Amino acid sequence: MAEYEHDPVSVADKRAVVIGGTSGIGRGIARAFAAEGARVVPTSRTEARVDETASELEALGAEALRATCDVTDRESLVALRDRVVDAFGGVDVLVNSPSAIARKSLLEVTDEEWGHVFDVQLDGPRRATQVFAEELSRDGGGSIVNVSSASAVTAIDELAAYSAAKAGIDALTRVSARELAPEVRVNAIRPGFIVTEQTKEAYAPGTDRYEAVTARTYEQRIGDPGDVAGAAVYLASDAAGYVRGEILTVDCGFVQSAL
Ligand SMILES: NC(=O)c1ccc[n+]([C@@H]2O[C@H](COP(=O)([O-])OP(=O)(O)OC[C@H]3O[C@@H](n4cnc5c(N)ncnc54)[C@H](OP(=O)(O)O)[C@@H]3O)[C@@H](O)[C@H]2O)c1
Repeated sequence: MAEYEHDPVSVADKRAVVIGGTSGIGRGIARAFAAEGARVVPTSRTEARVDETASELEALGAEALRATCDVTDRESLVALRDRVVDAFGGVDVLVNSPSAIARKSLLEVTDEEWGHVFDVQLDGPRRATQVFAEELSRDGGGSIVNVSSASAVTAIDELAAYSAAKAGIDALTRVSARELAPEVRVNAIRPGFIVTEQTKEAYAPGTDRYEAVTARTYEQRIGDPGDVAGAAVYLASDAAGYVRGEILTVDCGFVQSAL
């Protein structure tokens, strides 16, 4: 590229797999990619959710592939990759946004609960990275966008396993950014509190948690999936070609806000 040129912030030419793309943040990212003209695979365990989301993306004018997957099952990820490669001829972007949570303190959480959160939240993206790495490398310009959390860098009550897994996502992002370079760029987004299935009851308006969280944002509000999606579009676009191993915070000031 010439000295003062830059690539556009666009994913129009990309083939994107969004794991956890049938709800909340992942669905918001899948919608944003689709609206930009990308071919998208919004995937999760539930066929009905996949179908509903794919129809939503098609209504936006995008090509969507219907495929389920379970990130705790390597064979399921291999089958997903093979289906996507058959349908689209390759993969350019992998977004890791599967969710599992245990609302327990460190002294209360059981081995099973801790293990399940790690299996979905950290080992899921780790497995998906391993399974998709070669395909993402194939045509050059591949990238991975992981979904971290403000809880990776702050201590939040009753999120012990979740916070530790998300700190792992930050490390996984740095490690894979180095290991998969130069062919594949790996970055992450770090959302603050966003209204989704995961949070809508625990952080509902009127609760103490809602008041505590909104007081720390500069707009006194919890975010929507659409508030986060643009950051994923940017990181997956060629405009972010020199951005590697970065964790982009999208939290309306929550993490940096003190009193
Ligand atoms: N909401 C927030 O405030 C917030 C803040 C920071 C970070 N995050 C992170 O953002 C990501 C998405 O969370 P969300 O709030 O959008 O949650 P969500 O609305 O509950 O969506 C979670 C998605 O993960 C899928 N999923 C769950 N287990 C799976 C598995 N084993 N294999 C494949 N897919 C699976 C779900 O679909 P199925 O049930 O059909 O599998 C669903 O599509 C998570 O990594 C979460 O930790 C959320």
